[in-house]
Amino acid sequence: MREETRSAGKRRLFIKTYGCQMNVYDSARMADLLAPLGYESVDAPDGADLVILNTCHIREKAAEKVYSELGRLRPLKEAKAEAGERMIVTVAGCVAQAEGEEIRRRAPVVDLVTGPQSYHRLPEMIAKAHRAAGETLAAEFAVDEKFDRLAGARAVDGPAAFLTVQEGCDKFCTFCVVPYTRGAEWSRPVDQITAEARILAAQGVREITLLGQNVNAYLGAPPAGDGGEGAWGLARLVRHLAKIDGLERIRFTTSHPRDMDDALIAAFAEEPKLMPYLHLPVQSGSDKILTAMNRRHTAAHYLDVIAQVRAARPDIAISGDFIVGFPGETETDFADTLAIVEAVNYAQAFSFKYSVRPGTPAAEMTRQVDEAEKGERLARLQELLGRQQDEFNAAQIGKALPVLFEKSGKREGQLAGRSPYLQAVHVDAPETLIGSIADVRIEAATRYALSGPLAVSASEAV
Ligand code: 5AD
Ligand code: SF4
Repeated sequence: MREETRSAGKRRLFIKTYGCQMNVYDSARMADLLAPLGYESVDAPDGADLVILNTCHIREKAAEKVYSELGRLRPLKEAKAEAGERMIVTVAGCVAQAEGEEIRRRAPVVDLVTGPQSYHRLPEMIAKAHRAAGETLAAEFAVDEKFDRLAGARAVDGPAAFLTVQEGCDKFCTFCVVPYTRGAEWSRPVDQITAEARILAAQGVREITLLGQNVNAYLGAPPAGDGGEGAWGLARLVRHLAKIDGLERIRFTTSHPRDMDDALIAAFAEEPKLMPYLHLPVQSGSDKILTAMNRRHTAAHYLDVIAQVRAARPDIAISGDFIVGFPGETETDFADTLAIVEAVNYAQAFSFKYSVRPGTPAAEMTRQVDEAEKGERLARLQELLGRQQDEFNAAQIGKALPVLFEKSGKREGQLAGRSPYLQAVHVDAPETLIGSIADVRIEAATRYALSGPLAVSASEAV
């Protein structure tokens, strides 16, 4: 009886996402993979047939957050069981990768654990879980390759979309779990990416952000018929995707300073669809700390890359990541970080207190920095970065910037979009402009957004 209603009806899927954009993308991908099994996304775990916690390991206490969420899910799962139904609880993502066995031991509420390398097997795992409970499924299929199903079926949400081109990292920065949880660097073939980008463009996507943990290390199989010239780098991929009609803007993130090659720098000068925004983490301004972090670059090398990028594209907005309080960081080392921030002048940045990730080399280092000291340094760094962000945004006042309108704004009659420099822009404009690009005369700026009127009449927008 139950089998029939379950296989005919829709199933409720609740995904909770922690962490980075890569995880947001992965969650959307999991939802797409599970749609053919009859799963529809819902906003709350209550009554859900499948709950996925897509976890992130990059911050401290990530695992603890997952365990407390699992504690909250237990009564919901029990309530469902009392009603004769089943809730499958899955832990996905980097915490799952790192602590699979431990999760099963500590939280019996969990049915499945899957790391980022095996998302393609999710439908199979879910199907098996259903079968184990004696349920039949509306549809089952095998997925041969990690991204295959996505090439055809992908729910787009507005005119800006993410597209994963690369995964994993071989850099092994001593503070970071990514090389352990996401595995070795791996690039998707050019043809596969192009096919997905074309589908996105046909669905109304105007801007794509190419994603990868180490995106500028991209080295993908060339398109069929390329004459056997060997793998393509990111610059070539960007120029290739720029030829797709309808795609107006291309971005990529996150890059490593060591992999900023001449071709990619030249693309900023020569490819108008490549937006003038570069997220290039430096982590520290001290060579001693950069060495201890195994970053494989010096402060001078980083500044040299920034100078080359600025020579190619003078207006480019530079963004970065910083870690304060890495083991052994002295006040002098921290002063070097403030100095590199002064030298670069960031448009935007992300900064963190160093947090111990068990299993990484830095976790074993002596001379861990006192928490209060880290907090004090982070506040000083953020004060400086915040000031630079204010200045970068204020410098746009009086300019006409092309804005891609992405969605309705908070206020009635208002739209929210992005400038070429990735700034949020709020504009009074008709909803018909969502998905188009039009010039906005910037009249006001705060730390987090710009605003102003349309510089052209709504009918002139492209
Ligand atoms: N502690 C603090 N910040 C970290 N990051 C990565 N690992 C750690 C850690 N153990 C930060 C880095 C990286 C960003 C994604 O997260 O700045 O660039
Ligand atoms: Fe982690 Fe980035 Fe370093 Fe790779 S390059 S180890 S992802 S911080």
